[in-house]
Amino acid sequence: MITWIRFGSVVDPVNGVVEKADLIIEKGKIAGILPPGSYKEKDPQLRVIDAANKMIVPGLIDMHVHLREPGHEYKETIATGAAAAVAGGFTSLACMPNTVPTNDCRSVTEFILEQAKRAGLARIYPIAAITMGQKGETLTEFGDLKEAGAVAVSDDGFSVKNSDLMRRAMEYSRYHGLMVISHCEDIDLSAGGVMNEGVVSTRIGLRGIPVASEEVMIFRDICLAELTGCPVHIAHVSTAGSVELVRRAKDKGIPVTAETAPHYFSLDHNAVMGYNTLAKVNPPLRTHDDVQAIKKGLKEGVIDVIATDHAPHSSLEKDLEFDKAAFGMIGLETALPLTLKLVRKGVLSLCEAARKLSLNAANILGISGGYFAEGSEADLAIIDPEYEFVLKEDEIISKSKNSPFIGKTLRGRNDLTMVGGKVVWERDK
Ligand code: DOR
Repeated sequence: MITWIRFGSVVDPVNGVVEKADLIIEKGKIAGILPPGSYKEKDPQLRVIDAANKMIVPGLIDMHVHLREPGHEYKETIATGAAAAVAGGFTSLACMPNTVPTNDCRSVTEFILEQAKRAGLARIYPIAAITMGQKGETLTEFGDLKEAGAVAVSDDGFSVKNSDLMRRAMEYSRYHGLMVISHCEDIDLSAGGVMNEGVVSTRIGLRGIPVASEEVMIFRDICLAELTGCPVHIAHVSTAGSVELVRRAKDKGIPVTAETAPHYFSLDHNAVMGYNTLAKVNPPLRTHDDVQAIKKGLKEGVIDVIATDHAPHSSLEKDLEFDKAAFGMIGLETALPLTLKLVRKGVLSLCEAARKLSLNAANILGISGGYFAEGSEADLAIIDPEYEFVLKEDEIISKSKNSPFIGKTLRGRNDLTMVGGKVVWERDK
């Protein structure tokens, strides 16, 4: 069967253009990119999708997601996480290894891939742990994990404290062609902290996490990337100082890339006022100046990727005293409108936003997607950038509802998601 998506504006992040065009999809691939209305129907089974007044973007790729399976299926399963992803316009995601058990061996990686296949919605790429049990002591079997299907290694949620071990991890991963994704946190500096260290933490009497906790580890990992020549990707950048460190490293030609998450350019530490545990996240929401620096880092290309750090937690972990609540917020269903706000404010062009939400992550992980070309996989999202809505808890698809954006008015949403030519999500009219 042939699918004809007509009258939409196609976002081409490679050439930096947005143009009205029709897409012809056959056997799961893009078979043609044609001037609007020029397709001559030949197939009696033709499916026509009308995309007038909509944008067609390459399927979004989220390189930082926590699916809680195996182990904490009451928060999220691979199937519910994939359903939330496709609702948000994502066609691919990479999932972090902090499951129970940890994804530190072939059998867990294979299990994740098996469950992903069963869910059949998004493309799911496992990220394996750097160290066994993410304990920071013994390296995992990178070769075995790569062979099983892992695309990167990370101890996300924890930092690899031992610098020599991190050096060896980089050397080993370079040999195996696995990207190292680093959660940068000096746990001695942040120990006991529950929010950003600053005027708000002082005012409300909560223990703070200083920006230095993130920055010293980013500096270390940049030094190690220079020493080993191994590319390193810095996860969830949240501070102005971190942006500067990455900028200087890139200027020196050190192989470093970086991501931030929508909450770091949309909210600051004031969101925690009232002891709002939905705004408790690690690294923590920072100051207004940090938020401005993150936006500048995105605009100037210092930060390559917008990833959600989707971290589902149930009310059991969130409806608690602030000190005791878990770190993390969901993000798969709000990343698109929050990023489109940057487009409306002139921080990013639509093409730059598409690059940061898809192509750059694909290039960093070495996976498919992120652009349209004849013969490429038909992974795409049809979005309505102007649609305004109030985020309602009961409309969230993710199994967990821990979003600080509930009740907020957002603009821009995904209407249809296609993976490999198959419609995996379509909004009810
Ligand atoms: O806030 C966070 N939550 N930060 C992390 O690094 C881990 C994540 C989680 O797994 O809940």
